Amino acid sequence: MAGLGTVGASVVRLLARHGEALARKCGRGLEVRAVCARDPSRDRGIDLSGTTWYADPAEMARASDIDVVVELIGGDSGPAEACVRVALSSGKHVVTANKALLARHGVELAALAEKNGVCLNYEAAVAGGIPIVKTLREAMAGNAVSRVYGILNGTCNYILTRMEKDDLSFAECLADAQRLGYAEADPTFDIEGNDTAHKLAILTSLAFGCKISAEDVYLEGITSITTADIEAADELGYRIKLLGVAQKTDSGIEQRVHPTMVPKSSAIARIDGVLNAVAVDGDFVGEVVLVGPGAGGNATASSVVSDLADIARGDVAPVLGTPATDLVDYARAGMRLH
Ligand code: NDP
Ligand code: HSE
Repeated sequence: MAGLGTVGASVVRLLARHGEALARKCGRGLEVRAVCARDPSRDRGIDLSGTTWYADPAEMARASDIDVVVELIGGDSGPAEACVRVALSSGKHVVTANKALLARHGVELAALAEKNGVCLNYEAAVAGGIPIVKTLREAMAGNAVSRVYGILNGTCNYILTRMEKDDLSFAECLADAQRLGYAEADPTFDIEGNDTAHKLAILTSLAFGCKISAEDVYLEGITSITTADIEAADELGYRIKLLGVAQKTDSGIEQRVHPTMVPKSSAIARIDGVLNAVAVDGDFVGEVVLVGPGAGGNATASSVVSDLADIARGDVAPVLGTPATDLVDYARAGMRLH
């Protein structure tokens, strides 16, 4: 376990509570052998007895007595990237919730995992507790997808909901989201829309078999939304939601993230607080909509452990649904992402 913060500590708690049941479900036990964080003296409210403490995540990832590295540090480079690269290169499976890392290096890391015959699982990286990665990669594999969209950031949805319902200021709502463990270490990633763009780019790759391309997402966050905007939308019969949308158009795949006025009568308008919702249009199944908690330690731990369970069962699938070498480069093919 690299990282024992909001998500890491919840994963340790979940494994302590449900470890035996999981072992029965997977046919193999999961044991936390080694842990790594910055501050060894911090009381995290978890039992770390029997584990080896490491100060350096990459050093831990090299340890010979572990099979799987769970990266819950965060950041698109630095210790998280080093830890994941070392783990994959030394033949260890990796589970991560790090969408920033995947948005920047996902294709390369997928290739590294596939070359070494190991898993790189990341259910928790998109929409927290909602199993959208498995839905796209597995359950909807038989469909041609034309559109995937939704509310992909719990912090922004929490802020917009509380500004509207509790008449609080933007700053008060953001401070609450941070206190509750929803926000990123740098919350500008949430409120400027980058986090939604990272998640959308991952979904685009899974849905359309193209390379992850977060820099091609049209991006607008929620920092300029005021209570007056929310009231004006309300009078017109709308609510404001930060949406991420990826859809097929005649000229390629369109990816955009921006605040959107949605009719109050629509299902997405009723997604409140930290909840996220993701809708996928498949040609055979039709529209599938998943709703659930998009952030928070326990909800995210649920997804992290589902990835661990897949590894324990021996399920090794291409990381992005399509082998990394077969992913289409839309930009190079003249199919610009825009
Ligand atoms: P936190 O900031 O709560 O935890 C980060 C952990 O990483 C801490 O334990 C910290 O140590 C450790 N860490 C930081 N730098 C280093 C380093 N150089 N060496 C060793 N350990 C280090 O983050 P979260 O738990 O909230 O998020 C973790 C990941 O999960 C991120 O990628 C985030 O985007 C993702 N995520 C988070 C969700 C959420 O709701 N919070 C939901 C979905 C995904 P220490 O505790 O000692 O400071
Ligand atoms: N900061 C993110 C959010 C965490 O609020 O959605 C979950 O990815």
